[in-house]
Amino acid sequence: MRAAEGSKSITKILYYLFLIYTFCAVLYTANYFYHTYTSEKAIPDVLPQSNDLKGINIQSANSGKDAIKWGGMQDVMTEEFFLSKVFAESLQPTQVIPYYFRAQGTPPKEDITITTLITANRFKVFDRLVNHYKGPISVTIHVNDVPHKRNALLAQLNDLYHGNPLMKKFVDVHLVIDKFERQFNMWRNVAKFFARTDYVMMLDVDFYLCTNFREKILNDERLMNMLRAKNTGIIITAFEYVNQADGYEHEKFPKTKTDLLKQVQAGQLDMFHAFWWRGHGSTNYTRFYEADQLYKVTQYQHHYEPYVIFPKDSPWCDERFIGYGANKAACLFELYLSGVDYWVMPDDFLIHQSHEYLENARRMERKYNKKLYDHFREELCFRYARNFINSGVWSTSVAKNLKTECNKIRGFNQAIKYFSSLES
Ligand SMILES: *[C@@H]1O[C@H](CO)[C@@H](O)[C@H](O)[C@H]1NC(C)=O
Repeated sequence: MRAAEGSKSITKILYYLFLIYTFCAVLYTANYFYHTYTSEKAIPDVLPQSNDLKGINIQSANSGKDAIKWGGMQDVMTEEFFLSKVFAESLQPTQVIPYYFRAQGTPPKEDITITTLITANRFKVFDRLVNHYKGPISVTIHVNDVPHKRNALLAQLNDLYHGNPLMKKFVDVHLVIDKFERQFNMWRNVAKFFARTDYVMMLDVDFYLCTNFREKILNDERLMNMLRAKNTGIIITAFEYVNQADGYEHEKFPKTKTDLLKQVQAGQLDMFHAFWWRGHGSTNYTRFYEADQLYKVTQYQHHYEPYVIFPKDSPWCDERFIGYGANKAACLFELYLSGVDYWVMPDDFLIHQSHEYLENARRMERKYNKKLYDHFREELCFRYARNFINSGVWSTSVAKNLKTECNKIRGFNQAIKYFSSLES
């Protein structure tokens, strides 16, 4: 009994030592990120010439808004080299080819680019999305780096792109070429990195856009101001057919909320992935059915992975999440922690179009990603807390989401109290 208690308290001490160690490590990292990211002005826009290092003007006149001028570096830095660092967190070697196809013209800054990922077996459904959305789309296409596969895919892609004039009008295609099966979050970052508008919508390509939410949002000054304030993510609620066979015929999908509700009441349509409530349940579908105006998500939990429109200037998806499970949730967790609240559009919705899933790969990868996600959340909580405390926003609404989510982590509160006491 005693021995057990002794080892228990040793475990406890080790646990706290570990906590302190983690905290210090995170402080160090956070401090670095804090200095790099919180102050736009701290980043020199013009890289110094190599013989002019002492002359860096930290309070640079164009304050981070203009294009980076590469100083003397254009002589030595290829695009490939530059991009290998931009996506250095991803599995290497991976080659990124931005704008393999580039849409003609430039979309207005204040527009919503759909950012998505496709593989060759989704080309048809992608074509449908392009026809239907009629707005900017930035798509990452993974190319398996095996010569015969690569050439076949690129030929198919060429046909797809040149076979539809709306592609040329709206779609930017970026390639990721490597020998890995998938690295979802890196692909997402590529699509967002090269999106040419201020707002993006992270969407899975299989969804049918039943309503024109883009027009609605762009013409709604209140919504636009919320997006401009960079503290808002706008959710379009997702549905699927209970009977998968009904999900193939998009012509029969409802286009108005009234028609949607009829099919929901008839038991034909249900929330997306009803078997996994945590994925979409925070939207509160009961509330959605009744809603006639925008409402805020009040039951966030970290498995929530709705389809969201948010500012391009937002945290990146963590690229350690390569496979199935938690990848999109991790992106949206960080967005939420950074101070972005989720709001649900009352009359707009998406419907999933049926297709086959790769069940085995999904099961394996989910298990691995779950572990990673547990560590990731803890790390983020400390990193953002440190940043918020030091930038003086700890007691403002910016830190509200972080406080509720991170309080769920054991030891977090004590660590923050300890840290705050050092500060004062
Ligand atoms: C979901 O929305 C309904 C209808 O507005 C409400 O009665 C219910 O309390 C909400 N559920 C939760 C858990 O907030």
